[in-house]
This record gives sequence, structure tokens and C-alpha cells, in this order.
Amino acid sequence: MAHIIPQTDAMDEALARLKAGEAVAVPTETVYGLAADATDGDAITRIYAAKRRPRFNPLICHVSGLAMARTIARFSPLAEKLAEAFWPGPLTLVLPQTAHTPVHPLATAGLDTVGIRVPVGFARELIAGLGRPLAAPSANSSGRISPTSAAAVAADLGDAIALVVDGGPSRVGVESSILKVDGDDLTLLRPGGVPVGEIEAVAGRKVSRTHDGEIVAPGMLTSHYAPHALVRLGVEAVHPGEAHLGFGDKRARNSRNAVAFLNLSPAGDLGEAARNLFSHLRALDAAGAAAIAVEPIPDTGLGEAINDRLSRAAAPRDGAP
Ligand code: TXA
Ligand code: MG
Repeated sequence: MAHIIPQTDAMDEALARLKAGEAVAVPTETVYGLAADATDGDAITRIYAAKRRPRFNPLICHVSGLAMARTIARFSPLAEKLAEAFWPGPLTLVLPQTAHTPVHPLATAGLDTVGIRVPVGFARELIAGLGRPLAAPSANSSGRISPTSAAAVAADLGDAIALVVDGGPSRVGVESSILKVDGDDLTLLRPGGVPVGEIEAVAGRKVSRTHDGEIVAPGMLTSHYAPHALVRLGVEAVHPGEAHLGFGDKRARNSRNAVAFLNLSPAGDLGEAARNLFSHLRALDAAGAAAIAVEPIPDTGLGEAINDRLSRAAAPRDGAP
């Protein structure tokens, strides 16, 4: 079983384990990541194994800053402008790889691009200490809800990893926005912690979205973020036996039917809702209801990322009746 160490005491042990080729769960401002040396193929294999993740799904490479980023990716002036505006922070840029990148091809699943970002806090200090990029997907088993606490990581992956670094609850709560930069063309591959409007304001141009159902980030398989319970979206009335996930101060009808109720944000604040999203889904799932009924959430700002995760949680799953 993994042991959990507070981030204030964890730097030396985390570094030693990464140098030995292990995968270590670390806090970032978005969600917890399962990190390993991005230049070490054996270490990356341990990430895929612990998560039971398909190998065709590439990992984001985390770097300490723009200088390290330039060793692995080629930056157009537009990419550089976005990096300067949003790093460190929840924006992943998908860029062409450099010819002599130290990143192992297993991390990028053999693509000629690399997803890259600078995380906030402990993870960034860890990368600076290691002096190499860290490949880190979210620290959940493949297809399950991303963890926003050390306890959630341990509950899911505790048998597969040795160390979880505890940085408290994740400050953003949803994963990074993933933006492909191709010359002057910007395409959003995954909505996330940076709202699209903020990206467009800095870039001075429109961001296009991928067509419905098209899988461009290979990890964006439709059924993802799946709790055990079924998920019903945009509900106006709760059915008997359902768990109820609210937003704002106006309740869906028949809330008293619910076996459990949590509110993403009583004040209707989307930042608060993003922070609470995954932990509330886990908690309602643990209540054992057959379904989670979710009230409508506005699709503006961070709401786009929240609704993206919810609709994936609600998508039909392999093996579901
Ligand atoms: O906030 C985050 O992004 C968190 C923290 C730990 O940094 N990480 C995260 O990683 O969400 P993961 O592996 O759960 O999701 C990464 C997504 C996957 O859907 C993957 O397919 C996509 O990024 N991706 C990575 N490299 C890519 C590339 N070169 N081209 C297109 N998509 C890529
Ligand atoms: Mg993930």
C-alpha cells in the first residue's frame, strides 16, 4: 500500500524514487499526477502499467519553465506568447517535437508532437530538482475519475505505487486545457482549467474546437471519468433512489427523493464547482446509488470543462447494460 507524505517533507524521497525509475504520485494545481522521468522508457512503462492505460494514449510532459520546454518542443511566436501568459498554470500546448528531444517515444506514443506544460508548486520544484521533464497523466486508473486529493489517489492506485505526495486539495480541480498550436491555427483538444475566452484574448484570434466525437487527443475516448453509478445530466427532477448533484441555489424538483445530495457551488461559482467536481462525484458514487442526477451547469468559462467531464461521465460504457 502506498504511503502518503506531506509535500513539505517529501522532496528528497520523491526525487530519489524518480531517479530510480519509479512512478510517484504528486500534487499539481489541476489534479494529482502520476509522474515519472520522461526520458526513461522503463519508468514510463511503469506509469502505463499502474494506470492500466492503453499505450497509444500519449502523456503530457511537465517542465520547469520555457528553457526546458525548448529542449523538447519547437515554439512558434504564438506558442511562446501563450506560454508566457499562462505558465506556470493549467494550459497544455501541443507542439512539434525537437529533432533531438530527450523525451522517450513511449511518453508521446510515437507522435511527432508533444503535449507540454509547467505545473504550479511542488511538481515544478521537483522537475527543477530532477533537471529533466516529468511525464505525468492524472493519477487515476484509466477511465476513472481524476483525483483531487492524496486520499483519492491512494484509494484508486494505492496497490500499484509506493508514494503519494500530499499537497492538499487541488486548487483548480479539473485538468489542464489542451491546445494544439499549428502555425497560427489554434485548436482546443480538451477544455480545462484555462477558459477558452482567456486563451483567445491573449492570442488575439479564435480557437477552433474539434468536431463532435472526433478523437484528436487520443485519450479523449468518449467514456471517461466514469463513476460506478450512471450519470444523468441537466435534470429538472430527481428520481427515487438517485444521488443528487446540485449547482447554485435553485433546486431540481423532488430533491427529497435523493439518497444523498451535494452542491458543487451554492453560490453558483464555476471555479468552486470545478474544485468540487471530482470529489463530489466520488462521494456520491460512494453513497451506492444506481444513478447520479446532475443539475444543469452554465457552459460559459470553466463551465465548458465541467460539462465536458460530466458528459464523458454520462457516456455509455463498455460492458454497461
Ligand atoms: O492537468 C493535467 O493536464 C493533468 C496534470 C497531472 O498535469 N494531466 C492530465 O493527463 O490530465 P492525462 O494523461 O490524464 O491527459 C492528457 C491528455 C490525454 O487525453 C492525451 O491523449 C492528450 O493529453 N495528449 C498528450 N499528448 C498529446 C499530443 N501530442 N497530441 C494530442 N493529445 C495529446
Ligand atoms: Mg486523465
